[in-house]
Amino acid sequence: MTRPAIATIDLQAFRANYAFAEELAGDALCVAVIKANGYGHGICQVAKELPASTLAVACVDEAMLLRAEGVKNPIVVLEGAFSAEEVRLASCETLQLIVHAAYQIEQLAELQLGDSIDVWVKINTGMNRLGFPPALCDEVLAKLRRLSSVRVLGLMTHFSCADEIDMAETERQLSLFGSVVHKLGSAAEGLLLTAANSAALLEHNPSRFDCVRPGIMLYGSSPLAHISSEALGLKAVMSLESRIMAIHELETGDCVGYGGTWRASRETRIATIAMGYGDGYPRHAETGTPVWIGDRVVPLIGRVSMDMLTVDLSYHPDAQVGDSVELWGKNISVDEVASASGTISYELLTGVTSRVPRLYLNSQSEL
Ligand SMILES: Cc1ncc(COP(=O)(O)O)c(C=O)c1O
Repeated sequence: MTRPAIATIDLQAFRANYAFAEELAGDALCVAVIKANGYGHGICQVAKELPASTLAVACVDEAMLLRAEGVKNPIVVLEGAFSAEEVRLASCETLQLIVHAAYQIEQLAELQLGDSIDVWVKINTGMNRLGFPPALCDEVLAKLRRLSSVRVLGLMTHFSCADEIDMAETERQLSLFGSVVHKLGSAAEGLLLTAANSAALLEHNPSRFDCVRPGIMLYGSSPLAHISSEALGLKAVMSLESRIMAIHELETGDCVGYGGTWRASRETRIATIAMGYGDGYPRHAETGTPVWIGDRVVPLIGRVSMDMLTVDLSYHPDAQVGDSVELWGKNISVDEVASASGTISYELLTGVTSRVPRLYLNSQSEL
């Protein structure tokens, strides 16, 4: 037997979450965001489950990985190109580029006559990360339309606070986006509009427009701090699992792990599990973070180390070396572990390291 840490990826759950997102999207195009290695799930494996959908990645390199694996879907590159060479590659591979800055227009202008490329113009409505200021949009659109190789498909923006209960900032961004479109008048005719991420798709109907861009919900995690994934009807796609590799009986006063931060207040049976921050389990997970063994929850105790973590078996006296353990998955949501570690599920899912083998279940891919 080898080290038992493993991430099991249920592709049926992934397809079900996408079907749910599509249902919410109604007539809008539902673009599956699969950047950062499919949020840690395997970019090619998840892409192949959605043969008829438009996909979104962060960069041209990620899109090229997909093309190399035979993925022919339309692909949107959310950060756009970083160089004229990438624009050329994108044109050859029929990638759709986001254009968010003036230097990208110059790179597009270098395309040879006869080449063609589809682009989306990103408008900065308040995230202040990428995008043109609203006041420049007519000029940007006019410049792009003067380039014979370039076809502008649509206008996009991105919300900064759609995951919060208070929708005031989302409303403000939306109204700014609307006013840009209004001001463009006939210049905006025929352009597709897109704004919604998972949170907005789930909670904010008016932001759906012609195209939505869900990411995290496809992997079964809730983007909303105030509603659980279970309440939203999402299915966990990744189960991070391992096994008990040692069991110890502690005396009152014994300490556990680096720094001895946890001390037994009575005789305590504890288990050591083959899973640590070297696998992507968060080092900052607090004592008490839920861990699933057999049929119940036990609490994490002490500091997580690189390859191992420890749990208190007080309420699970029958647990044995070799028993299987779920760190997150169908029983313990990744959102719970994230909140007990002062982070978000996005960071945990994308942070599962290459040391952890991925096991794929329920694929329907024909590629
Ligand atoms: C531009 C853009 N659209 C959509 C998404 C998907 O967001 P989420 O995973 O919150 O649904 C992201 C993710 O960061 C993004 O950067």
